[in-house]
Amino acid sequence: MLLSRLSLTHFRNYRRLEIAFDAPLTLLQGRNAQGKTNLLEAIFMLATSKAVHASQEREIVGWQADNEPIPFCRVLGVATLDGRSVELEIVLSPRGDGVNFTKQIKINGVAKRAMDLVGVLRAVLFLPQDIKLVDGGPGERRHYLDVALCQIDKTYCRALSAFQRVLLQRNSLLKQLREQEVNPTSPAVDAQLAFWDEKLAHHGAVVMARRHNFIVELEQIAAERHAELSGGRERLALHYLPSFNPGLLADREFDLLRDGLLTDAPTSRLEANVVAMAYQRKLAARRVRELAAGTTLYGPHRDDLRFLANGRDLRVYGSRGQQRSAALSLKLAEVRAMTAATGLAPLLLLDDVMSELDAERRAMLLAVIDDVPQAIVTTTDWEDFTPEFRQRARCFYVHSGIVETVV
Ligand SMILES: Nc1ncnc2c1ncn2[C@@H]1O[C@H](COP(=O)(O)OP(=O)(O)O)[C@@H](O)[C@H]1O
Ligand SMILES: [Mg+2]
Repeated sequence: MLLSRLSLTHFRNYRRLEIAFDAPLTLLQGRNAQGKTNLLEAIFMLATSKAVHASQEREIVGWQADNEPIPFCRVLGVATLDGRSVELEIVLSPRGDGVNFTKQIKINGVAKRAMDLVGVLRAVLFLPQDIKLVDGGPGERRHYLDVALCQIDKTYCRALSAFQRVLLQRNSLLKQLREQEVNPTSPAVDAQLAFWDEKLAHHGAVVMARRHNFIVELEQIAAERHAELSGGRERLALHYLPSFNPGLLADREFDLLRDGLLTDAPTSRLEANVVAMAYQRKLAARRVRELAAGTTLYGPHRDDLRFLANGRDLRVYGSRGQQRSAALSLKLAEVRAMTAATGLAPLLLLDDVMSELDAERRAMLLAVIDDVPQAIVTTTDWEDFTPEFRQRARCFYVHSGIVETVV
């Protein structure tokens, strides 16, 4: 068991919840809008430190908390890792301004940074809207990569956070310089930007190299799954598409790759120091353009990931079925990659995904449940699962923020 206990206070529609997980498989059933997704969101928050669905974190604070003298929200979980029990806690409490909330994180009662929490309890969350990874915008895919990688790689997580800080500062400098209409070639401008360019390239390169290497790893496994789902007819490829050539291809080939005219993306390892050099060169060569734009045009914040089946872009040409298979294959690959990276399979959270899938895709997903130490699954319909499956699971009934044991 990875997560043995969850306790919620004023988390979305849960006024108070205490639930113990004492079986590898938990099945939660309930009608719509009862709190199934909210419960998985709370668990995923313990794994990633962030709210999945909320655009602003205060959205997760239960409305009932308004009746409290001090409205707050608490998510507390007890995880068992290497035989030790670890208590993970996130508390949102209001700041003085009455609008914003402060997030406090504790591990075993000791205050920690969000970064220290990420990766303690590792989880993979499957959602009906995972198809957005394939048919949605690039921001969706970058976010996905970040959430997955931060859980398995502290260096990545640190580099990403440093990159984001530097990016903000560099962007405000570029904006300021644009407003001042400076001469791009003046030594003063050069000195100021060179300082930030170096930092941006240093952290950004770590992020980009890790993304490339991760995508290569995911591609292998995802392609196997996708081939099974398509009866061997489709070869799935994942192409990492950065905003500039990080160094594994000649520039001409890289342009072809970006235009979708190269079927095979490079699969050799990308090293951060190689990317950093290419990145700095790019920034130097495009300084005039960036000054005119007043913002940073190159780097991991402009990355994308392309899904192809038999060489064709699935976002553009894929059917819903093909897109769904690709998204599912990617998520299954993530479970494997996470297991390989850490030696321990992640906690599997499946949110109402069965009803979306046909028999073959269901079977594949159910097979993965057997490969992990713990899975927590929600459904609106018991009939989505066989009696044998339900027999193996600890079953609960969810209604208006209350969870009851089903016997
Ligand atoms: N901050 C909040 N406080 C109280 N209730 C909330 C909050 N955010 C969402 N909800 C409620 O949670 C319910 C949705 O729960 P959800 O877990 O998505 O349902 P489902 O069981 O369909 O997955 C909705 O009724 C919504 O109004
Ligand atoms: Mg739901």
